[in-house]
Amino acid sequence: MTILGIETSCDETAAALVRRHPDGSGLILANVILSQIKDHAPYGGVVPEIAARAHASHLDRLIKTALAEARLTLDDIDGVAATAGPGLIGGLLVGLTTAKALALAKAKPLLAINHLEAHALTARLLWPLDFPYLLLLISGGHTQIQIVEGVGRYRRIGTTIDDALGEAFDKTAKLLGLSYPGGPQVEALALKGDAGRFDFPRPLRGRQGCNFSFSGLKTAVRETVEALGRLSPADKADICAGFEAAIADVMRDRLSRALKQFKATFADVRQPVLVVAGGVAANRRLKSTFETLCARHGFSLIIPPAHLCTDNAAMVAWAGAERLALGLTDPLDAQARARWPLDPEAKRMTGAGVKA
Ligand code: KG4
Ligand code: ZN
Repeated sequence: MTILGIETSCDETAAALVRRHPDGSGLILANVILSQIKDHAPYGGVVPEIAARAHASHLDRLIKTALAEARLTLDDIDGVAATAGPGLIGGLLVGLTTAKALALAKAKPLLAINHLEAHALTARLLWPLDFPYLLLLISGGHTQIQIVEGVGRYRRIGTTIDDALGEAFDKTAKLLGLSYPGGPQVEALALKGDAGRFDFPRPLRGRQGCNFSFSGLKTAVRETVEALGRLSPADKADICAGFEAAIADVMRDRLSRALKQFKATFADVRQPVLVVAGGVAANRRLKSTFETLCARHGFSLIIPPAHLCTDNAAMVAWAGAERLALGLTDPLDAQARARWPLDPEAKRMTGAGVKA
């Protein structure tokens, strides 16, 4: 089956065509993306109104481009999938309404996709991967650990109680006068810095459970920046290195608890797997932390390539294909949802806003 996927939940406008074969394997036929980073950069973060307008101006052209790249027409597809949440409501409405119009006009099934489910299932588009597996989702909007038990079946065992990890990178970058998005720049500067110069806090390290907190770390960075006054290039590099070291320590601590919990829950899974997704998964220092940790706990580590870890429409199309294969379609009055937790049983973390 061939699915058209649409992603408009944040600052990427994207369209893709993905095929799912009867054996469960996947193939990306086209995957086009338009990043709005330059539109938002002057403001140091994503401006919802600008994002929604940009999605509306570009989406139809991107869908046409994706169809042309895949050498398909709308008559060749078996369903239309769009991110319906969580995310910025204006952008979600643009993508979901477009998908509904196409589904109605062409009498194809609609698949209203949870963006987090799309991230969670991407690994299965690329590799044969059975349920259950453990998912660490680290992006600009989300920081969660989920047990993925099946399509539509998630158990959240960890979440941030305040900022998302990518947000912590971006805020640190902003404090250092670096441009948005700051994650890659913090990583580059950290390579030149002395991680031992500043002793930043390791929030929640050693505590029960697998939750994360990053706001105290951000405050510590701010206080350090204020105390130093004018920052030399070496100061900036040392702050980045110290910040990344603190994050790596926190990840090691929180994640090792999650790996143990997964193994205790699924003792019969012979080769447990950790999947890491989201933009921050591109960070090499954290990648090597995850590799070491997985080797120690007997887990295989899967990190999709960066262009499929960050927001894209291939993951949305794939989630649509996985759902359609199970007959899980949505009505044309499906609602866009700013907040939409993957695990409906999970406790709401008020400090984390829509992101928990
Ligand atoms: O998944 P993503 O593209 O968008 C969503 O938030 O959904 O993630 C973007 C986030 C940004 O916060 C960005 O700073 C961060 O991922 N990021 C990184 C790196 N590359 C991107 N953070 C740390 N190190 C990186 N190399
Ligand atoms: Zn995302």
